[in-house]
Amino acid sequence: MNSSVFSQLPPTDRPQPRVSIVGAGKVGSTLAQRLTEKNLADAVLLDVVEGWPQGVALDLMQARGLEGHDRQIVGTNDYVDTANSDIVVITAGRPRLPGMDRSDLIETNAKIVIDAAKRSIEYSPNAILIVVTNPLDVMTYLAWHATQLPPHRVVGMAGVLDSARLQTFISLELGVSTQDVQAMVLGNHGQQMIPVPQYCTVKGIPITELLNATEIDRLIDRTRNGGTEIVELMQRGGAYFAPASSIYWMVESILADRSRLVSAAAYLQGEYGIDGLFLGVPCRLGRQGVRQIVELSLTTAQHAALEKAATEVRRNIKNAERVLERI
Ligand code: LAC
Repeated sequence: MNSSVFSQLPPTDRPQPRVSIVGAGKVGSTLAQRLTEKNLADAVLLDVVEGWPQGVALDLMQARGLEGHDRQIVGTNDYVDTANSDIVVITAGRPRLPGMDRSDLIETNAKIVIDAAKRSIEYSPNAILIVVTNPLDVMTYLAWHATQLPPHRVVGMAGVLDSARLQTFISLELGVSTQDVQAMVLGNHGQQMIPVPQYCTVKGIPITELLNATEIDRLIDRTRNGGTEIVELMQRGGAYFAPASSIYWMVESILADRSRLVSAAAYLQGEYGIDGLFLGVPCRLGRQGVRQIVELSLTTAQHAALEKAATEVRRNIKNAERVLERI
């Protein structure tokens, strides 16, 4: 057979959606797998460790025939290869170890995230930035501040994950399908997260009609410690399957311009009485990023909790800035 029967044309001439993932650890690699195996986008995996992202990408490429897709997965150590991405997801940074709070990671991760954000946007000036590195709300602020992107183009992933965890726990408690459960968690990604029971429903029925206060508090508590419970179990790292699914969900809403209502860390400019920082709130995600922040009516206690979460995020931003001045 003449080997020149096929020229080296790509499977299609149509430009494909391209998502770059900075940090090829477990979250980043699992996200690349989800994005490509669900045939949503091509993926570029970037990591500082030489050979690692290339190896992960090759491994994923070798599964293409079996998984039934022709997506491109590129592994690289060079930001040049991330050029013209539609979305850049930043997962780079140290994960928590047992006994650590997410805020213990500020010093290590601030520099990594700022550098990743700046360099990514240099090569993909029109990209939407999704920040995943912890402490999430602070890192999202730093990425935005460093890039000076319009705030609607920067968003942090945490509320989707926290809501998915609560959704799971509600479905397990009631023995109903997860598909019929909607859950909403606001606030920061940490001890100050704010599950909102009146907006958690089973097929439209608020859980406050299905569970008593003690039962709801137990589920909320488990949600608040959802990440920690996994860190304690695994001992060498944290969750990555559900985090990757949560990012996928956001990427899909953006690329398909679906305007899905998700809980995510968005830049607040007076919404909920809070100004100048990123915090988990319900927002509609579409092709331009955050299309709208939805202001729900909350109880007085929930409002106070949101303000407390904002105060904590503000304090951590100050700490991060102090650390950065020393570097
Ligand atoms: C968690 C990490 C992603 O909650 O913060 O599992």
